[in-house]
Amino acid sequence: MSFIPESFIEDVLARTDLVELIHTQVPLKKKGKEYTACCPFHQEKTPSFYVNPDKQFYHCFGCGANGNAISFLMNYNHRDFLGAIEQLAATAGMTIPVTETDHAALDAKATWHAAMARANAHYKNQLRTSDEAVDYLKARGVHGETAALFDIGFAPNGNSLLASCAAEPATRTAFEELGLIIPKDDGERYDRFRRRIMFPIRDKRGQVIGFGGRIIGAGDPKYLNSPESELFHKGQNLYGLYEARLDNAKPPRLIIVEGYMDVVMLAQHGIRNGVATMGTATTDEQIQRLYRTSPTLIFCFDGDNAGRRAATKALHTAVPHLSDGRDLRFLFLPDGEDPDSFVQARGRAAFIEQVEHASLSFDNFILQLLDQIEPGNDSPARAKKNKLGLHWLAPLPAGALRKITERRINEHTGLWRSPNKFTQKAQPPQPPRTKPTTLDKETLILALLLKHPDFSLHILKPTAWHNAQIPERFLHTAQQPEAHRAIKAAAHWSPEALQMAQECDFHGINDPDIALVMLEDTLRQLKRATSDAASKHGARAALARFIEACGEKNSTEGD
Ligand code: UTP
Ligand code: MN
Repeated sequence: MSFIPESFIEDVLARTDLVELIHTQVPLKKKGKEYTACCPFHQEKTPSFYVNPDKQFYHCFGCGANGNAISFLMNYNHRDFLGAIEQLAATAGMTIPVTETDHAALDAKATWHAAMARANAHYKNQLRTSDEAVDYLKARGVHGETAALFDIGFAPNGNSLLASCAAEPATRTAFEELGLIIPKDDGERYDRFRRRIMFPIRDKRGQVIGFGGRIIGAGDPKYLNSPESELFHKGQNLYGLYEARLDNAKPPRLIIVEGYMDVVMLAQHGIRNGVATMGTATTDEQIQRLYRTSPTLIFCFDGDNAGRRAATKALHTAVPHLSDGRDLRFLFLPDGEDPDSFVQARGRAAFIEQVEHASLSFDNFILQLLDQIEPGNDSPARAKKNKLGLHWLAPLPAGALRKITERRINEHTGLWRSPNKFTQKAQPPQPPRTKPTTLDKETLILALLLKHPDFSLHILKPTAWHNAQIPERFLHTAQQPEAHRAIKAAAHWSPEALQMAQECDFHGINDPDIALVMLEDTLRQLKRATSDAASKHGARAALARFIEACGEKNSTEGD
């Protein structure tokens, strides 16, 4: 007997457009978000047959017929199951990987799954009896319910797993094949995981396929993972995906974080849609799997250089999997924070706020990267950026999303602008689309300075800074050429400004020319409002005085 891997069937369905498939045989009419026709499965005069393009599902309210592309071909075109998949695969240009069923292999798989389940139970029992492990989890803020949700366990020092199967050579062999027990040259064996908090990695059915183990305290490596095995393929699975789907089988978005503890801590704070890769860059298979679960992927990285490099990699891996209806975003947390530390320090609402308002859409991230690679703004620089940006987009499948994104790159690099646009005054910034509040001008000014610290040297007298009574520490850093140091300093002083600085990217005002015009404009607008602002307190009041001082400088030079 031969069978088709389930993952292939999912892939075929993911690449099939049910609306198109049906429409070629039963003409459909658009009605709201759905398409409708007179039902092809029973006689009727008014349409009660609906096709939902998002769910890739059809349903007849008259006769109750319903299903997906495969069932449509089976019921309408009278194909058998295999024939239906063959037709869909051919349309999608895919080849069916037919495999012979190997009963011995199936038995072996069952044995390995049983061994993994047993190891998992063993580690969980060990956690119950280890004060050291329980204290460690408590110190890291992990609640009992959270540990239970993720089935967290503990591998004590020594060879506890080996000891647990001393009388069962078959189980011991399975543990060896799964890499949980390691044989030495001299015939002795030892436990792979020792003195580690154990995070079981589960497949989509919830079966344990591997472990990640964090050392208690300091040690090398900090995290040890199961090796690749018949059950565990690091590049195809995601930590937390099973647990995320337990909460919602079709989450509207998934947040991809870097670490086990990030997933666990987000979940503890009610953010149940976090998943993590296991210490490697995100693979094509992982992106495919993620998009099958959710249309929106938000990659969350540290704001440091390594984080930006990883994000760039993720961008290039994800772009070929984008399509109309799918979304890709990037969130960079403040320097030195990971989702675990962030959500524990600032709470659920603050993290959600970051996701909502501080994440960059992939096109804005592309523009930001282009400006980093080529900071110049003359014609050759813009040509280079244009070419590079369009090159990055080349793997994006044809469609509206691709067109719109190409257009953004063309606009950003001046290809679709009037020639003098770059010397014109820029429009005042539009509020971010997700945040319908009016822009806070003081914060915007500070954010612009954070983004372009050299402006403070060019357009402001040093005395203006002193009059403003802005903390010395911030001043000093702000006048360094490296923007990120200034942003870091400001994080202590004004979280709003930090966020605004991140949103500058969102507005696409990285462009120093536009930013400078924007800064001058905003300063001018605020000149009259300073007496108002002076009544505010703390940092705001200091900033108001600062703006007043700037205003004086502006007027002495006759604006
Ligand atoms: P990090 O080093 O950023 O640690 O590793 P973390 O997630 O913040 O861990 P805690 O909070 O100190 O416990 C991020 C991820 O990279 C992988 C793991 O998957 C980890 O969760 N990693 C890290 C390894 O595989 N091996 C290592 O030695 C370190
Ligand atoms: Mn961490």
